[in-house]
Amino acid sequence: MLPSLPPFSPMRDAFLADETRTLDQLIPIAKLGPEENKRATATARALVQSVRARQQKHSGMQSFLTQYDLSSQEGVLLMCVAEALLRIPDAATADKLIKDKFSQGDWKKHLGASDSLLVNAGTWGMMLTGKLVAPTSDSFADVGGWLTRLAAKAGEPIVRASLRQGMKLMAEQFVMGRNIAEALQRANSDDQARYRHSYDMLGEAAMTAHDAERYFVAYQDAIKAISAAVKPGQSVFEAPGISVKLSALHPRYELAHKDRVIQELLPKVMALAEQARDGGIGLTLDAEETERLELSLELFAAVYGDARFAGYEGIGLAVQAYQKRASQVIDWLIALSAKHGRRMMTRLVKGAYWDTEIKRAQMQGFSGYPVFTRKANTDVSYLACAAKMLARPDVFYCQFATHNAHTVATILERSGNEEGKKHFEFQRLHGMGMELYEEVLDTHKAACRVYAPVGTHEDLLPYLVRRLLENGANSSFVNLIADPDVSIDDVINDPIKACEANPQKANAKLPLPKNLFLASDVSRMNSAGFSFADVAATEALYSAMATTIQRSDFVAKPLIAGDAMRGAPIDAISPTTLAKIGVVEEADDQLLDLALDITSKWPGLPGVQRAEILERAADLLEQRHAFFMALCVGEAGKTLPDALGEVREAVDFCRYYAALARQHFAAPLFLPGPTGESNELSLHGRGVFASISPWNFPLAIFLGQIAAAFAAGNAV
Ligand code: FAD
Ligand code: 2OP
Repeated sequence: MLPSLPPFSPMRDAFLADETRTLDQLIPIAKLGPEENKRATATARALVQSVRARQQKHSGMQSFLTQYDLSSQEGVLLMCVAEALLRIPDAATADKLIKDKFSQGDWKKHLGASDSLLVNAGTWGMMLTGKLVAPTSDSFADVGGWLTRLAAKAGEPIVRASLRQGMKLMAEQFVMGRNIAEALQRANSDDQARYRHSYDMLGEAAMTAHDAERYFVAYQDAIKAISAAVKPGQSVFEAPGISVKLSALHPRYELAHKDRVIQELLPKVMALAEQARDGGIGLTLDAEETERLELSLELFAAVYGDARFAGYEGIGLAVQAYQKRASQVIDWLIALSAKHGRRMMTRLVKGAYWDTEIKRAQMQGFSGYPVFTRKANTDVSYLACAAKMLARPDVFYCQFATHNAHTVATILERSGNEEGKKHFEFQRLHGMGMELYEEVLDTHKAACRVYAPVGTHEDLLPYLVRRLLENGANSSFVNLIADPDVSIDDVINDPIKACEANPQKANAKLPLPKNLFLASDVSRMNSAGFSFADVAATEALYSAMATTIQRSDFVAKPLIAGDAMRGAPIDAISPTTLAKIGVVEEADDQLLDLALDITSKWPGLPGVQRAEILERAADLLEQRHAFFMALCVGEAGKTLPDALGEVREAVDFCRYYAALARQHFAAPLFLPGPTGESNELSLHGRGVFASISPWNFPLAIFLGQIAAAFAAGNAV
């Protein structure tokens, strides 16, 4: 039984909120006074100067990532290879990928472009591969002759091994240790001893119960080992801690499976939290995809509010500022704490899944984005949330996770004096922000914790890809600061000013999901969808589906030119419930002859009119999506997300072929005569088409086939 919780409605309303309106509310909260702002800017400037001076001493991986940032074709290629090499199990496919990707880039232009040995060594490697896989290209002709000859002798497997080695190096940059013992030992080394640590057992998005159990045991073992490393007298805020990804602990950690998650996952989280409490360490729930937010809050509240944890302030939660509802999440946490009168550890992050969120919103046809679409907007949201959190030291032990000097400086300014610094700590990721926090620790005496991933390369991939995206994005602070061509003014650019300077606020280069294909060659609207984590939308769907899904009296008849015919009835049975959902009357030979007779005389319509018919069909399907989804569930045994996907695919097919009909079949068309002679147009209908659809896509593929043939001037 879950405790009663503060209302979710303000947060739900803000899920895909209008960006301009949201920022208009956040800016006044985020803004410092003019004097404070001046001081924060000066602090940020000093931090950047110091970081740049320190970075010159130990450049390395960051220079590499800056040189190959994701605005260059080569950076993107590297990213693809990095991701794929860790995933491709067999050598032959890996070699094919290398061949494909590395022959595309202009690696030579990066050679010597950085002072870093690593960059140049890496570039040699890439040029070598480029040469190896494109021996006829003369773009590398004068470079690295001996290396090329060596590689030519050694062959692609050697290159593959070197690339894997390079990836391993990159992985080591971001992972604290292969196991918890190794990581804890490293935490005592000179460069780590000044920091607190929160260990994260790599692994997420478990696909099976077996994987989930493996990760659970890894967390149990880790908590045991971390607890043993707590020093006498350390408070839970000072002690090392653990960070947990709930998606690692349950294969169905989704709102749609809430009951099961509460039954199966909650006891596991409780057990880990009890173990952490007994060991005197903190346990923080990481923030993952936006669709998991509400469920994560329910689980967090159940643990945080449980009587077993009275007096323990080590239960923590990460909050993502890039979500449009971040500010409402902070309000919700404040309301939750009022019920229990206890602080919670709250790690404020900007959010690590931005690209995924954007792509998912587009793929799923949301009416808007759940995250901000300009970097400055996320920064503003972060500063507003930080201001709210710092104003409530009775609720939050604040943990500001950032590598951005401007963000750090603003928080230092807002937190005030030495006393204020007791209520929060900064956090950085292992392998990032080292130089920044050396300076923060030296000069500003604020505490800092390192998020320390632990594990082997099998579990590293998603984490590594997020780090590569973050480091490689040319909007990222860590990328800008490592680029000597970017001025300090630009590095510490005030996000509030940037945000205010843009009245539109949203990113004009990022069309709303519904407009995604408007500028494509086949210009059309995207099909509309929604998130099953959007409780309001899902509830509306359920009630719209309710009557249809209970029906058992459907009658499907042969339709010829719009008229219903009679046929031999057969029961239609749901493959999931085995209940009868209705009757299908099948056409016989006579009806087929009639259909052929009518369709072969069917008048040709110009493409525009065909397009209009298809577009109208698409709009009707969209309006009646709940009805068609219910049919897909009943007749084909689809899950709800698959049923929605099916209806949307059908809509997309209709709009896609409608657009093509407008483009290519604009003039009136006539079917070819019996001898096959055609009219003057090069593109024309071919006659009558028969379409046989697979049972498992009764709507989408059926309509796709019909729409294509129909758009091209045929009868179907
Ligand atoms: P900045 O360069 O100032 O900000 C980069 C961030 O801005 C991006 O990560 C993204 O969030 C945002 N952004 C970039 N482009 C755009 C755009 N076009 N529109 C809108 N926003 C944009 N992340 C999680 O999601 N969950 C966690 O649990 C989590 N835990 C963390 C723990 C620690 C200790 C740290 C340091 C980070 C953690 N992160 C987590 C990762 C974190 O989200 C990123 O490291 C962080 O966003 C980088 O922000 P920054 O201030 O360092 O850099
Ligand atoms: C991530 O896994 C650090 O939680 C953050 O990317």
